[in-house]
Amino acid sequence: MRTLITGGGGQLACDLESRLGSEAVSLARTQLDITDAPAVKRALAELRPEVIFNCAAYHNLDQCEADPGRSFAVNVDGVRNLCGSRARLVHLSTNYVFDGRRPEPYDEHDLPAPRSIYAISKLAGEYAALAYGERSLVVRSAGLYGLHGSASKGGNFVQRMLARARETDALQVVADQRLQPTYTGDLADALLDAVRRDADGVLHLTAGGDCSWHQFTEAIIELAGLDVPVRASATTVTPGGVDRPLNGVLARPRADSLGIPALPHWRDGLERYMAQADLLAASAG
Ligand SMILES: NC(=O)c1ccc[n+]([C@@H]2O[C@H](COP(=O)([O-])OP(=O)(O)OC[C@H]3O[C@@H](n4cnc5c(N)ncnc54)[C@H](OP(=O)(O)O)[C@@H]3O)[C@@H](O)[C@H]2O)c1
Repeated sequence: MRTLITGGGGQLACDLESRLGSEAVSLARTQLDITDAPAVKRALAELRPEVIFNCAAYHNLDQCEADPGRSFAVNVDGVRNLCGSRARLVHLSTNYVFDGRRPEPYDEHDLPAPRSIYAISKLAGEYAALAYGERSLVVRSAGLYGLHGSASKGGNFVQRMLARARETDALQVVADQRLQPTYTGDLADALLDAVRRDADGVLHLTAGGDCSWHQFTEAIIELAGLDVPVRASATTVTPGGVDRPLNGVLARPRADSLGIPALPHWRDGLERYMAQADLLAASAG
């Protein structure tokens, strides 16, 4: 399967690349900026991929709010640029397309209601992928962390919490936002499975179970063997600030109906990630 991965060097891109080996060409932003339509056209003509995994995104939420032009250029126009060939586009999206105001998980058929520039641009990007691509697959996931960090966010959430725990006496983390933090290694496996099954349309692929950011942080600190209290706080949205969904939990009846295996539980993914990254108590000491 000749494959192009955009956003090379990012968390998910690296895990896809490691699984696909020589079948894949992974291009970082400096090698292929997806907003550069002529460059994308040239790359598609040269590489003639059968599948494109679009892992490129502008997704620092505060920066998106401050720079809507760039958000829409990368997250929408860039997606449309990738639709100009016969390749199947697999486009990554987010649980943030939902407003998170109801208690039940959101499934693939629920109506999105994005509440931030990032989320609005990602939803528009979904529509671009589905409108302009041949049988595109749009996969919504959540709370990604992986071995390769996320440069635009100063490392992944796990790394940031551990760094903060080593600098302060106590951590304070929101306990009213729920999600399924997902290890990019597990997501990469599920994406490849979905492509092998010829899936298209919208799918939800996230880790099993769910937790609050506070519970996730408690698990990180416990697994790292650190003795730092994690205090629970409540979400506040300042004027002009980013509105994040309180309930970011996704259900996946459509993925189930296509026979795509469930991803491991979030705690299982976290333990394997921390073991591979040498962050567990035993290896940290
Ligand atoms: N991270 C999460 O928690 C999360 C949650 C749900 C969904 N998602 C979605 O999952 C996908 C992968 O996320 P990730 O966490 O793996 O991201 P990541 O590690 O931050 O990687 C994103 C990559 O996109 C690149 N990029 C930015 N603008 C680009 C452009 N114009 N052209 C080409 N490449 C560009 C970045 O390069 P530079 O660093 O050089 O700018 C970076 O390498 C994204 O679509 C994201 O929206 C992420």
